[in-house]
Amino acid sequence: MNLVLMGLPGAGKGTQAEKIIAEYNIPQISTGDMFRQAIAKQTDLGLEAKSYMDKGELVPDEVTNGIVKERLAESDTEDGFLLDGFPRTLDQAEALDAMMQDLGKQLDSVIEIQVPEEVLVERLSGRYICRNCGATYHKVFNPTKVEGTCDRCGGHDFYQREDDKPETVRNRLAVNVENSKPILAYYDKKGLLSSIDGNREINEVFAEIKQILAK
Ligand code: AP5
Ligand code: ZN
Repeated sequence: MNLVLMGLPGAGKGTQAEKIIAEYNIPQISTGDMFRQAIAKQTDLGLEAKSYMDKGELVPDEVTNGIVKERLAESDTEDGFLLDGFPRTLDQAEALDAMMQDLGKQLDSVIEIQVPEEVLVERLSGRYICRNCGATYHKVFNPTKVEGTCDRCGGHDFYQREDDKPETVRNRLAVNVENSKPILAYYDKKGLLSSIDGNREINEVFAEIKQILAK
């Protein structure tokens, strides 16, 4: 199954991606995670990406398309993949089509998680992430079961993302609202798009995603 997960920053893409990849046994390809890994390793890609991410701007299309193309050529994507946070511009959506054509594959479904903007600001400001395994939590909506201990790996070290500061969040939202409209129309026209209400309990959102993918 070849899937795309869309949604504004904080809509719950990462949270749902974790469940989807476990259920369907496919790899998650998150451009945001790939950039953050490159930043942590201080590679040239990381240095370039950081200058955009810190401002809440998009990394240029040619850079982003290049890393996705390389990633999709890896063998673990043969039986399917979940793209999380890509495509984010029309140029990226068209580039993805070309990549899929080269690989002789097709997208099966594009799921958009919809959440009102005021809820997104609240979600991002309360988000914290396990430094060891990357699991994402929220101080109110999705805390760890035992305080201070990661449910997934047992780690004790958490951090908040640099770009989750309120001023950066507002710019991320503005940039993404503007860019997502044409892509949603693009996938709707192809009959691939399902938009779901993401302003519900995490497991309710996941139940609807499973329903869509069962069709
Ligand atoms: P990226 O890492 O993709 O971030 P994003 O799109 O801003 O999305 P987030 O990861 O912030 O949110 P999410 O939807 O995954 O929400 P989450 O599940 O964590 O991109 C970061 C940056 O990298 C971009 O700004 C850009 O610079 C660059 N970049 C990445 N891809 C790019 C591309 N294709 N082109 C160009 N540049 C690119 O949930 C958020 C919080 O809410 C968590 O605390 C969670 O616990 C909580 N939560 C989740 N679901 C629920 C629920 N149902 N109810 C209550 N709380 C919930
Ligand atoms: Zn962990």
